[in-house]
Formats: sequence, structure tokens, C-alpha cells
Amino acid sequence: MTPTTPKRVRVHHLREAKERGERLTMLTAYDAVTARIFDEAGIDMLLVGDSIGNTMHGHTTTLPVTVDDLIPPARAVAGAARRAFVVADLPFGSYEAGPEQALATSVRMMKETGVAAVKFEGGKRVAAQIRAITDAGIPVVGHLGYTPQSENLLGGPRVQGRGDLAAELLCEDAVAIQEAGAVAVVLEMVPAPVAARVTEILHIPTIGIGAGTQCDGQVLVWVDMAGMTDWSPRFAKRFGEVGAALKAAASAYADEVRGGTFPDADHQFDA
Ligand code: KIV
Repeated sequence: MTPTTPKRVRVHHLREAKERGERLTMLTAYDAVTARIFDEAGIDMLLVGDSIGNTMHGHTTTLPVTVDDLIPPARAVAGAARRAFVVADLPFGSYEAGPEQALATSVRMMKETGVAAVKFEGGKRVAAQIRAITDAGIPVVGHLGYTPQSENLLGGPRVQGRGDLAAELLCEDAVAIQEAGAVAVVLEMVPAPVAARVTEILHIPTIGIGAGTQCDGQVLVWVDMAGMTDWSPRFAKRFGEVGAALKAAASAYADEVRGGTFPDADHQFDA
């Protein structure tokens, strides 16, 4: 999508972008500072992902993340974004029990944060939840392929949808969530030709992460994209070395404090 139009990305712009063949851009954000920067950079969609568990809260998986953990960051991101379509994840344990639980969690998320949509993982098994939430007027983004909340069942981060049968099941899941009302779907760690096939058969946009170039858009976890950590997944290109730049700034600050050169005359008050 063009980085300056529309003024505010809304749900119908996602479908229109797909129809026009304009690629959608999405990054995770967990606070107001990064949300403002990404929004000003023209990123179309910001995801307050449960990846906050691994990236910010020091967990090894997303499983411990709670709704209470996600509400303050979601509120901060939604408050800071002027243009981007802000999506909040529903964390593990907050929607699987059925449509009632999923709707209650989504309503709370919408009321307390100001995000534009919720996202959660799964295909046919959560179609009833997607239908109930959509019927209540809340846009839902789906998430298929590698779904981190099921990492114990899937045997860790592994490509999903390899082989004819698995690819067929993935396509069926994608169609099921589209029919249930999903407005877009994230495809994570899916072979590029399978993601291309899903993109072709759906009329809602696919947002890929480790799913090749034929998706309608791409999403990355921002700390991977910006090079904040020593390690990042193979599919996550580092578009900067912000971690190294931040470390250099912190070292320069510490050197000047220790050397007595900061604060100088420009950074203190006269009597
Ligand atoms: O939580 C998250 O950051 C996600 C992305 C990996 C799509 O779901």
C-alpha cells in the first residue's frame, strides 16, 4: 500500500490493496515509541503480538503471555499509531474454549485498548470463534502454518504444509477461516509455493512470515527486522543494526558521565 495513503488504514483497505496488487507491510510493536516510528515510516499494520513473551518478557515461548500482559502494550500502540491498522493477539488460553470465551476476550481487548482487530491462531478448529467475533462487529485476522502457541504439539518451530496432504489441509483451513469472516490471514513458515496457492484461492489478503514472496503482504517481528539481537530466524532479514547502534550510544553516554564531560554547559541550568 502507498505509505501516505489512506490517511487511516481501515479494514476495507486491506481487501482493496489485495485487489490492486499492492503489498501490505506489517511489523510487531509493543510500545508507543516504536509504534510511532513504524507508523511514521508508513507501515500499514502494527501487530501487538504475543511474541512480546519471547522478545520483551524473557520467556522462551509465547505460552505464558496473558490478556493482562497484552492490554497495556496494545493500548500504547493503538494510542500512538495515526495511520496504521493496529491488531492485537489473543494469547494462549484466552479463546480456545469456544466462541463465548473468544468473544469475551475480544470485547475486552477492543474496549480497553482501542485496537482495530484481534488475531488468533488456528484454522477450522477456531472457525466458530471467528464467526462469533465477526458477528459482534470485530475484525479478526487469522494465523495458519506454524502457530507458536501450539509449539509443543508441532514439535517446535518447523515448516508447516509440506507435502500434498498437509498443503491441502492448510488450504482448507484458510478457506474455512475466510468463510467464517476473517479479514486477513498470517501464514507463518509455510513453503513458498503453498503460500502462493493459498494467496491465489483467498480473496482476503495473506500476510507472510517465512512464507515466500507471493503473499499479499509481509510481517516481521521488529526486533528481528531491526537487528536488535545476536540471533534471528532464517526468514527474518536484518534491515538494520539498531542493537549495535543502541549499545554504542549507551557506551558513549557512560564514557562521558565517567569522564565528567556530560552534562556540559549546554545541558545544565544557570543560576
Ligand atoms: O506474535 C507475533 O509476533 C506473531 C507474528 C510472528 C506474526 O504472531
